[in-house]
Amino acid sequence: MANQQLNRPGKLIDRFGRRVNYVRISVTDRCDFRCIYCMCEEMTFVPRAQLLTLEEMATIARAFTELGVDKIRITGGEPLIRRNVVSLFYSIGALPGLRELVTTTNGSQLPLLAKDLKAAGVKRINISLDSLDPEKFRRITRFGELHKVLAGIDAALDAGFERIKINSVIIKNRNHDEIINLVRFAGERAMDISFIEEMPLGLNDDHNPNETYYSSDQVRAELERAYTLLPTTETTGGPSKYFRIGETGTRVGFISPHSHNFCGSCNRVRLTCDGRLLLFLGHEHSVDLRHVIRSHPGDMERLKQAIRDAMSIKPEGHEFDLSAKPVILRHMNVTGG
Ligand code: GTP
Ligand code: 5AD
Ligand code: SF4
Repeated sequence: MANQQLNRPGKLIDRFGRRVNYVRISVTDRCDFRCIYCMCEEMTFVPRAQLLTLEEMATIARAFTELGVDKIRITGGEPLIRRNVVSLFYSIGALPGLRELVTTTNGSQLPLLAKDLKAAGVKRINISLDSLDPEKFRRITRFGELHKVLAGIDAALDAGFERIKINSVIIKNRNHDEIINLVRFAGERAMDISFIEEMPLGLNDDHNPNETYYSSDQVRAELERAYTLLPTTETTGGPSKYFRIGETGTRVGFISPHSHNFCGSCNRVRLTCDGRLLLFLGHEHSVDLRHVIRSHPGDMERLKQAIRDAMSIKPEGHEFDLSAKPVILRHMNVTGG
């Protein structure tokens, strides 16, 4: 069955029968922050010549939508620090067949860009926020200034996106005491919030994720002491398991790569800023689309066939083993989460 399905024009289906309809495009591996779970203090970034241009990214995005992808998320590093990135949002936002253009940002550039993103067709936006305490926020992000991110959140609220979601990675002894505050902050502003278990990707020069693991079940138990969590079947097509909060009407999600593996229903692939198509967050399997696009400029059919062929190497799932050394040496900023 596999080959027939894999090569069927018009749709992307992997060897396990999973339909890929969601692509995450990382437009840069750089960031104005250095979060302790995402980057080391000193980092080497992809040299400029190896970066895809924004035009190349738009072409690859078009190829994907012609293959049935209807959701694209722009990620980074911090996507909004890439020069002229708004033009890419406009190009992708105008693609026929796209149902949702979304982005995940640290919020620092939103005071400048929130309105442009909305105008380009971004419907939902996810903003990372791990602490509401300026000191703790700086310790987690190394360079981040909380007030700038809060101004960014205000700008996003003003711009009128359909939904805003806060992402909080919870790390024991860094911010696990802020769970209730973060939920209150989000609820008061009609925003959803997801709590994320840290994934051990790349080398961590700050802490041992094995010692700072804080499970989604612990977060949930704590929340249930203050709020009523109502089970819901709602999904955004992402890995969050959602609950409605009775008191606020907003949603809380749990992204639990360790405690509740969600690979079986994985519907996404990732494009790195240097043009590698990653078939899976937790594996190194990739296909060099930059090579395809630069060696055959303008050949859309060849690009689409390379993407179709890639489906045959998408692995089934991941195991993140907290007790072992990370086998994936990519930092999260390279994959865009
Ligand atoms: P929605 O489309 O709004 O559901 O977004 P999302 O929550 O999937 O995306 P976001 O960019 O906000 O990512 C939140 C967290 O989910 C990040 O820590 C990602 O690394 C993680 N995540 C997203 N997709 C995957 C995946 O396929 N596997 C794993 N293990 N984690 C993922
Ligand atoms: N584990 C879990 N989530 C992470 N993120 C970045 N690095 C990690 C990690 N090691 C999250 C960010 C952001 C999203 C794109 O990925 O907090 O919200
Ligand atoms: Fe930057 Fe996001 Fe990584 Fe933090 S998690 S360093 S904000 S890319």
